[in-house]
This record gives sequence, C-alpha cells and structure tokens, in this order.
Amino acid sequence: MMKLALLSLVSSAAAFAPVSNVKTTTALSAEMSKSMPFLVQPPATVGLIGSSEFDPLNFSGNFDIKWLQESEIKHGRVAMLAAAGFIASQFVNFPMYADMHVDDSNMAPSVVGVSAMLQIVCAAGVEEWRTNKGKVTMVDMFTGENANRTPGDFGFDPMGMCKGKSEAEVNSMKLKEIKNGRLAMLAIGGMIHHNFVTGEALF
Ligand SMILES: *[C@@H]1O[C@H](CO)[C@@H](O)[C@H](O)[C@H]1NC(C)=O
Repeated sequence: MMKLALLSLVSSAAAFAPVSNVKTTTALSAEMSKSMPFLVQPPATVGLIGSSEFDPLNFSGNFDIKWLQESEIKHGRVAMLAAAGFIASQFVNFPMYADMHVDDSNMAPSVVGVSAMLQIVCAAGVEEWRTNKGKVTMVDMFTGENANRTPGDFGFDPMGMCKGKSEAEVNSMKLKEIKNGRLAMLAIGGMIHHNFVTGEALF
C-alpha cells in the first residue's frame, strides 16, 4: 500500500515536472493589436502604411493582404471622387446632360439611364483588366508578373507629386491618401443615406 502511494506520488511529480519548464504562449502574452488591445495582433497588417492593426474579423488572416490593401485604396479613391461628385452634381451638370438635372443626386443614375451607367461600368472594367494585365481575381491579382506591384501603385502621377521626393515624404502622402479615402468612404455613405432617409437633396 505504502509502495503504491509512493509510486503514484513519484509518477504524479514526474507528470507535473515538465509543465513548469514549458513556455506557454497564451493570448495575453502574444502581441496585441494597437487599435484593439483586447485582440491578438493581426500579423499581416503590421507595418503597413495606414495600419492600426484593426482587423477584428481576421480578413488579413484569410485573404491576400495585397488584394485587401488595393481594395481599400481603390475604394477610398472612388469614394473621394464620389463625395465631390455627389455634392457637385446638385449644382453643376455636364452640358450634354443639362436637361437631366436632378437636385437629389441619388436619382442621377436612373435619370441619365442605363446606357450612360453601363459606359461607366465598362470603362472601369476595361481599366481594371488593363492595369492588372488580365489578372482580376483575388487569387491571382498579385501573382506572376504582378507579384512585385505595390498595391494602389499604377505609376499614375501626371502632376509629378512624387517626383524627387524622399521615401518618407512619399509615405507621408500615401498615409494622407488612405486617411482621406477612409473619411470619404464614410462621407459618401452618409450623404447617400441622408438623401434616402430625408427624401430630399443635400442642400
Ligand atoms: C486568422 O486566420 C488565420 C488563417 O485562417 C489563422 O491562422 C489565425 O489564427 C487567425 N487569427 C485569429 C486571431 O483568429
């Protein structure tokens, strides 16, 4: 009996011994996200321009980070144009569409009609195809000859804003672009919903 008790003591001591030597990595000791300190840092977002490591749905763990970055940058650019256009079209019209003026910019797509809208969609599609050399899906966009392309960089700088600038200066402009883009995405969403909810023009 005594022997058995001793044996079990020794074996339980042996079972516990290695535990104190194992370095356990728990969520608490892992790096935490800068913007969401109660969530684990999403590794793919670390160090990107404009990243505050905000990814509560773990998109960056499941999709190509370059594709995600480019989506954000492009949505931001489109939203900046959209926000300006949404306001402007209440006051200014292209001469060929002068007789189609509406105060409520939400109504503009239905007023100009299907063919005008399709032209925009087709032009965007052609441009998307051209700049990505035909690789337009999430899976292959940044593969092969596109592997080294920086997300959002299409070599488009007609006013030479990046010419002769240091990397830090260019990065600072990239940060401004992405922050303005994020703000514009919220802005155009707010304006569209304002018109929907009130049923009236912006101003
Ligand atoms: C995010 O997704 C990746 C890939 O599925 C996974 O390995 C990782 O553990 C996930 N991160 C979190 C915090 O759930």
